[in-house]
Amino acid sequence: MEKLLYTGKAKQMWQTEDPAVLRVVYLDQATALNGKKKDHFTGKGGAANAISSLVFAYLMKQGIETHFIKKLSTNEDLVKKCEMFPLEFVTRNVIAGHFASRYGLSEGEELPSPVEETFYKSDELNDPFINESATIALKIASKEELAQMWGICRKVNNLLKPLFAQANLRLVDFKLEFGRLSDGKIILADEFSPDNCRLWDLTTKQHMDKDVYRRKLADLTQTYDEVLERLEAVIKEG
Ligand code: C5P
Repeated sequence: MEKLLYTGKAKQMWQTEDPAVLRVVYLDQATALNGKKKDHFTGKGGAANAISSLVFAYLMKQGIETHFIKKLSTNEDLVKKCEMFPLEFVTRNVIAGHFASRYGLSEGEELPSPVEETFYKSDELNDPFINESATIALKIASKEELAQMWGICRKVNNLLKPLFAQANLRLVDFKLEFGRLSDGKIILADEFSPDNCRLWDLTTKQHMDKDVYRRKLADLTQTYDEVLERLEAVIKEG
């Protein structure tokens, strides 16, 4: 019998009969403001899953290890079970979102080199910013593990910036999460979809990510479907 382990803001995780394998279900919902705003969007879970599966498969082909095993259906995947680090690794190529509001800047300028920020995952605390020494002092991750995870973030950025550019999308920023397998190996986990990155159309500058929901700009599922179509075209070509 499968057991529901966790219901998150956009996904559910189920323990399968294999202790090393989980089933992920992408939900047809979006949340903002740390879950305070929540709405149903038919087809959104399937689109986010399709995008994330494509991106993870692409990264794995390029030698990056992830938790992704295979897509089971429109809304479901099988993934490797790992012990998640309660950390969010945000990489920013362009000034946007909280980086703009925090420092009183307007959005849109390319940063001279990517800005890297780590946040401690906690809904109660509102995911506070955490630096390296606090992460180590609180035994959340070691210095070596942090270096390894940031190394993967940089590789992902270097691979995905040009991939999205081929789809006429600017990879503005993104958030990654990591887990540890039972043998101690660190792998990329969670997802990569417009729920956790910012994508701007390179020509029209239109937002093509969850900001269309946060800022009420356009239809969310349609936007994700458009990103998926463009990504499928460039990944098939390549
Ligand atoms: O909100 P902020 O500007 O800090 O977000 C930076 C990037 O990280 C965005 O792409 C956003 O979607 C993502 N993010 C996320 N989950 C969070 C916070 C940010 O996926 N809890």
